[in-house]
Amino acid sequence: MNKNKLVFANWKMNLHSEDVIMLVKSVVDKINNISGVDVVLAPSFPYLGIVKNLTKNSKISLSAQNVFWEESGPYTGEVSPEMLLDVGCTWTMIGHSERRQHLLETNEMINKKVLSSVSKGLNVVLCVGESYDEKRTDKTFESISDQLHRGLRGVREDLLSQIVIGYEPIWVIGSGEAASVNDIANVHNFISNELKAMFPSANYLPRIVYGGSVNRDNIEQIIKLDNVNGALVGNASMDCDKFCDIVLRVVK
Ligand code: PGA
Repeated sequence: MNKNKLVFANWKMNLHSEDVIMLVKSVVDKINNISGVDVVLAPSFPYLGIVKNLTKNSKISLSAQNVFWEESGPYTGEVSPEMLLDVGCTWTMIGHSERRQHLLETNEMINKKVLSSVSKGLNVVLCVGESYDEKRTDKTFESISDQLHRGLRGVREDLLSQIVIGYEPIWVIGSGEAASVNDIANVHNFISNELKAMFPSANYLPRIVYGGSVNRDNIEQIIKLDNVNGALVGNASMDCDKFCDIVLRVVK
């Protein structure tokens, strides 16, 4: 059972090969031997191989930012869980709000991706989060609950250890300012209770990580909270010093 904290770098559609090489080499130099924390890097698809190569003698794991649910076939532009495993990924992110918004991913599509990925042995970060409108109209819990129930529909309890829930309030992503510690605590406690209610006989429940403008200054406050098992880092993960400081503060 993995009780480690998780720090997950989501580079989104940023960085080209030279930047990737420089960044990964410096990160490996700085935190290669760190223990008690799972560090996962998620480059864009074309750079998975490069990152795999540079991290092969380290404890750092590799993730994709997306996956498709079918094994193979006429699905132009898509990438299957088997293909990700084949190039050395052990993780994939699913349901990031940017994909829900720009690629019109629905909870049903996300659920198929989750089911297919965990059944093939990939670890999954399933992202959920409320919009600013939902927050403003007091619909945060309703929205999160809906995304959890529909995203995790049909997942076998014995595969829950492969799942991490990434809570990312949509309105703070990339804004430079994280949600308040109070809001984070409330939603993480809510997610934890929802998971317990959804999987009453599971002996392991998914870890829950927070994302949305995490940086080296706010991470210590956030990671102290109950039911916060790590962080999903966007902007700050593309700077070696900032990212490694976050990792070091998480294990402190
Ligand atoms: P951010 O992105 O840290 O730049 O807010 C987080 C994410 O979208 O995963």
